[in-house]
Amino acid sequence: MMRQPKIGSAQSPPTLPTPAQGVRWTTPIVETPGIVVLTSWIWRLLRFLATLPFRFPIMVAVLVASFGAWWWLGWPGLAGLWGAAAVVSLVWWRTWPDSYRTCVTLRLLAWWRHLAVYRRHWQPVLVIAGLAESYQERRYLPRIRRVRCNSWADYVRVSLVAGTSPADFEHRVAELAHGFAAPSCRVVVNGPRDITLEFPRHDTLAEPLDALPVLDSPDLDALPVGQREDGSPWLLRLHGTHVLVVGVTGAGKGSVIWSTVRAMLPALADGTAQVWAIDPKRMELAYGRDLFARYADTGESAVALLERAVASMQERAERYAGKQRSHIPTTDDPFVVVLLDEVAFLTAYYPDRDIRRRAENAIATLTSQGRSVGFAVLAALQDPRKEVMNLRNLFPDKVALRLDEASQVDMVLGEGARERGAEAHLIDPALPGVAYVRLEGSPSPVRVRAAYVSDENITAMTDVYGAASSSDPEVA
Ligand SMILES: Nc1ncnc2c1ncn2[C@@H]1O[C@H](COP(=O)(O)OP(=O)(O)OP(=O)(O)O)[C@@H](O)[C@H]1O
Ligand SMILES: [Mg+2]
Repeated sequence: MMRQPKIGSAQSPPTLPTPAQGVRWTTPIVETPGIVVLTSWIWRLLRFLATLPFRFPIMVAVLVASFGAWWWLGWPGLAGLWGAAAVVSLVWWRTWPDSYRTCVTLRLLAWWRHLAVYRRHWQPVLVIAGLAESYQERRYLPRIRRVRCNSWADYVRVSLVAGTSPADFEHRVAELAHGFAAPSCRVVVNGPRDITLEFPRHDTLAEPLDALPVLDSPDLDALPVGQREDGSPWLLRLHGTHVLVVGVTGAGKGSVIWSTVRAMLPALADGTAQVWAIDPKRMELAYGRDLFARYADTGESAVALLERAVASMQERAERYAGKQRSHIPTTDDPFVVVLLDEVAFLTAYYPDRDIRRRAENAIATLTSQGRSVGFAVLAALQDPRKEVMNLRNLFPDKVALRLDEASQVDMVLGEGARERGAEAHLIDPALPGVAYVRLEGSPSPVRVRAAYVSDENITAMTDVYGAASSSDPEVA
C-alpha cells in the first residue's frame, strides 16, 4: 500500500504563495500638488462670483440693494426698503396680475425647481438613465443651462456633452420623467448639442373637455377638435390628407370623429363639404344621421357607398386633369369626407370575402388618389395590426388613443414614436379621448385630448344643421 506524503515533509510539493505573500501590481498614485488644487478652487470661486449677476440678476440686485440700505441707513433703512418693495409688489400684483405672474411668480418657481428638483437630482438620474458617464466624473455630465416655468410645465435647457445626441435623450424620456417625478417628458431640439426637456408638473388633460364652440367659417386644414397638453387647441387637418384614429374599445374614437364633424358643421350646411358615413355598428353615427349626405350601415350598402365615392373622385380627377392641381371646396365640387367607423369590419371581419376585397380596393383607391381632388377618408380602428388593417400606411395622419400593447404605438405613429414619449399603451382608461399625435414638422409626438360631444350636443347639431347638411348629395 502506498503511503501518502506528509504535508510539509521533505517529499511534499511546493505550496503556492498566498495572495498576502504574492507580489501585486498597483497603479502608481500621483498626487496633485496642493497649490494646484487651491488655485483651481479659487479660480472656480471667482468664476462663480463673476457670472452670478448674469445668471441670477434679480437675486443679486436684491442682495446688493439690501446690503447697501443696511450699510448706509442701518436696520431702519433695510426695513424701509423691504416695506417699499412689498408695497410695489402688491400694487403690481393687483394692477397687472398676468405680468406679475410671468415676471415674479414663475421666475421664483423656476429658481426653486432648478435648485430643489433638477440640480439636486440631475447627476444621479442621468447616470442611472445611462445619459452620463460615471457618478464621479462631472466632466461627462450634460449641463443645465436654464430652467423656465410656465403655468403647467418646466422647461430645462441642456447642453449636451460631445459624443451624445438628442436621440439619446429621446430614447430615455420614460426614465427622465420618472426620475424627476413628472407625468411625461418631451425633448425639443434647439440646435447642435442644445436641447430643452419639457416636464409637465401636472396633467392638464385630466378633466374632460366640453364640445367646442362651432366656428362660423371653419378652416378645413385646421379643425379645432380638442386641446393639446400645453393648453393650445388641437387642430386637425382633414383637407388634403386622410386620418386614421386608432384605439381600443372605449378609448374615445367617437369623440374624435364627432368633434371633427362638429367643427365642419357650417361647411356641411353651406354645401362646401359633405360627410359620407359608414356605421357598421349602428351605434356611433346613426345618432346624427341627418348630418350626413350619405349613410350606410350594412356590408353591401357600405361597399356601394365606397365605390360611388371612388367613381365621383375619378370623374372629378378627369375634369381637373391638366387644368387644376389642387382642390378648392365649392358647392359644385364639395370637399367629401368618407367617414368609416370600425373600418376593420369591412376589411377583415365581414364574412363575405368579395365584400371585403371590394371594400379594401375602394379604400385603397380613395386614400391613394383622393387627396388632391378633395376626397378625404377619416377612419376609426380598434386593432392596428397588419392582419386586420394592411392599409394603415395609406393614411398620412394618425391618432393613437389608448392602445393595447406597447408594440402598437410605433405601428400607428411610426417608428421611434414610443421612444420619443408616445406612451399610448399607458393612457389611463379613466381618460377617454386622450391621445398622442404627430404634428407636421416635428418628430416629437404631442399629447392631446379630444373634446367630448355628448348625445345632447349631437341632437342640437342635427336640429340646427341637419336639414341643410343632408340635402341632395349628388357630387359632380
Ligand atoms: N373625449 C372624451 N372626454 C370624456 N369622455 C369621453 C371622451 N370620449 C369618450 N368618452 C367617454 O368614453 C366612452 C366611450 O367612448 P367612445 O364610444 O367614443 O369609445 P370608442 O373608442 O368609440 O369605443 P368603441 O370602439 O367600442 O366604439 C363614451 O361613452 C364617453 O362616456
Ligand atoms: Mg366607437
